[in-house]
Amino acid sequence: MSAIFLQSEVENPYSFYQKMTKEQPVYWDETNKIWAIYSYAACVELLNNTAATIPVLTANNELNRSATTIIENLARLSNGIQHEIAKETAQILFSYLKTVGIHTILEELLPERLLQNQINWVDLVCKKLPVLTVLKSFDFNKKDSDFICKKIAQLVKIMQPHKTAEAIEEINKVAEEIYSITERHFVTLPFYEALIRKISDLYPISQTEIFSICVSNLIGLFIQSYDAGSGLLSNSLLQLLSKENFSKDKVDKICIQKMVVETLRFDPPIHNTRRIASKDIQLNNSTIKKNDSLLLVLAAANRDPNHFANAMNFDTERNNNHDHLTFGTGGHMCLAKHFSVTIATETLYYLVDNYKNISISGNEIEYEPMINARLPKAIWISLL
Ligand code: HEM
Repeated sequence: MSAIFLQSEVENPYSFYQKMTKEQPVYWDETNKIWAIYSYAACVELLNNTAATIPVLTANNELNRSATTIIENLARLSNGIQHEIAKETAQILFSYLKTVGIHTILEELLPERLLQNQINWVDLVCKKLPVLTVLKSFDFNKKDSDFICKKIAQLVKIMQPHKTAEAIEEINKVAEEIYSITERHFVTLPFYEALIRKISDLYPISQTEIFSICVSNLIGLFIQSYDAGSGLLSNSLLQLLSKENFSKDKVDKICIQKMVVETLRFDPPIHNTRRIASKDIQLNNSTIKKNDSLLLVLAAANRDPNHFANAMNFDTERNNNHDHLTFGTGGHMCLAKHFSVTIATETLYYLVDNYKNISISGNEIEYEPMINARLPKAIWISLL
């Protein structure tokens, strides 16, 4: 049984996860030489275990200087003291992020003339709104925002553990321009000097290094918001429109927010994350050896019946839905838990508030050929 598969090739990964959580929650996949972890308790234990470290992306000579600087400085990709510094920086940057202007962005993304026909919700809104919200919030001008929004899909390939020659070429093509736009903009931000001072008071590193950490982690916010943000907007719309969950007259913001949180548990955009054991780890009855690879299947943990009652049911009223592990937990937990829920809630509320009739075309949803994320390729809807 392979623990690793493309989401595009599996119609229902949840029945496989359910079986594994029950029968082999800590499973050694001999073919892929990786431990796959399915139960809620075991995932939480590893996410909180400092001996389960982030696999550091190996330096690749073919990546250009800007791409290398970004990879070397991202909080998401670092461990130890380097992670501490990068995370502190990312957290300060993130504290300036506001969920303002979502309505204005939606009005721009959904002009009247486009709504005469069916629209592809994924391309038109999901892949743009989260990144544009971050850019707008930091006051990037329209030209720079449009450029970054258009090219970010190429840059996110930087997060792939194994990059093809084609991916490297795409990353190199956009990394320099995105880095220089962000660098130029960063020095105009009102909190720029205070941020540099704060980090240099806390850690003994040069101003030049701090500057690179700041610029890289600001770019990190664009990168992190792209796939996951898009997937949450897609999957929560699918839940909203599925017959049982949707009765337009009864929908208010609180009800939509509950639906978004339950979507994060039930059908999350991110299905797994990886770690490497930096020493032997005892887990359930298995010994994970130093240097072994780990695949933490968060989407399986989210349906663990030992943590969630009637875990296979979509139930917005279950009282512990927010315990889901979709944002991880522990030292590397996502910074954008509330931000992401707010953007999805505001977006869906905008739809139900502005359109009497939202209908989805009957075609089966296809998913992107990705291992770590389950992201719809397209969702065709009409808005009247
Ligand atoms: C639905 C949307 C999102 C999901 C499901 C998600 C999920 C995650 C997960 C699972 C991690 C931890 C990875 C691990 O421990 O291995 C993470 C980390 C992170 N996320 Fe998110 N994320 C989302 C949106 C965002 C957005 C919109 C931003 C920024 C604007 C963001 C910024 C970050 C950052 C900076 C980290 C790294 C934290 C660290 O390593 O210390 N995320 N995210």
